[in-house]
Amino acid sequence: MQTIGVIGAGQMGRGIAQTVAAHGMKVLLADIDLATAQASLDVIDSGLGKLVGRGKMEVAEAESLMGRISAVADYTPMADADLIIEAATEKEPIKQAIFEKAGEILSQGAILASNTSSIPITRMANYSADPERFIGLHFFNPVPVMGLIEVIPGLATDPQVTERTVAFAEGLGKQVVLSQDEPGFVVNRILLPMINEAVFVLGQSTASIEDIDKGVRLGLNHPMGPLQLADFVGLDTCLDIIMVLYNTTGDSKYRPAPLLQKYVEAGWLGRKTGKGFYDYSGEMPVATR
Ligand code: CAA
Repeated sequence: MQTIGVIGAGQMGRGIAQTVAAHGMKVLLADIDLATAQASLDVIDSGLGKLVGRGKMEVAEAESLMGRISAVADYTPMADADLIIEAATEKEPIKQAIFEKAGEILSQGAILASNTSSIPITRMANYSADPERFIGLHFFNPVPVMGLIEVIPGLATDPQVTERTVAFAEGLGKQVVLSQDEPGFVVNRILLPMINEAVFVLGQSTASIEDIDKGVRLGLNHPMGPLQLADFVGLDTCLDIIMVLYNTTGDSKYRPAPLLQKYVEAGWLGRKTGKGFYDYSGEMPVATR
């Protein structure tokens, strides 16, 4: 594959764009408008600057990587793309509008993929021009660092499209887990109940935020505790995913923790808003309860 379109220039879209460009492909990055996509390029650039500063990357490598990513005002230039990856907010109506629009320019033989964390692929395939060329391609955050990509064919996905998508993911130096199109796929089906349970534990005052995280970090050897990780993923995204699990299965074991809903209602969405289970305004994160 030569040219990849990425729609959605937030945390995930940026990471996907950086990783794809690092592997020599051209990236066209779109968001709601050109200014938003352009601002996201600046964030990638400053992240690469930090890697250069820490001696992890050569200046020339960072420059040539940036030279392969272009911000675009709309999807028209993506008519040249071999693969378009949607990485927008985890809200189905937003994704639907993107797939309908992208379907208008998708070239013959190109693949349309969604980085959704949990919304059914088979259902979303119907929003696209050709459900046979629609697939789930789920990256993990931070994309340049994490070694896994989940590939999720929908009911209508052509097996050749699955093969090409797996080859693309492996070409990024990642390992692939193939998942059936079931709620939460593999990893989030396991992760989100853990994060949700950690918020129940907090809500019942069983332990403090720091001790819940410390317990899981040291007791289970996870790099981050569940509340730290929830802040990292975004509490709104966590709530969206647990709601998909709850609504699609109807199983009460996935009911969202009331405290998670409360944090989202307060607009305390984690690192991206500067405050979630921790407050990030100072030098070190401080627990908010
Ligand atoms: N680009 C390239 N490299 C990067 C990078 C970036 N944007 N960000 C970090 N790195 C590199 C650093 O340079 C560093 O490299 P070295 O090991 O060579 O020094 C390495 O990654 C680790 O970074 P740091 O030293 O800054 O930080 P750390 O050691 O504390 O690790 C972490 C940070 C990788 C995020 C680690 O805490 C971790 O693995 N946390 C868990 C992350 C996780 O679980 N992610 C999945 C979330 S769920 C999800 O994404 C799916 C969903 O749908 C919700």
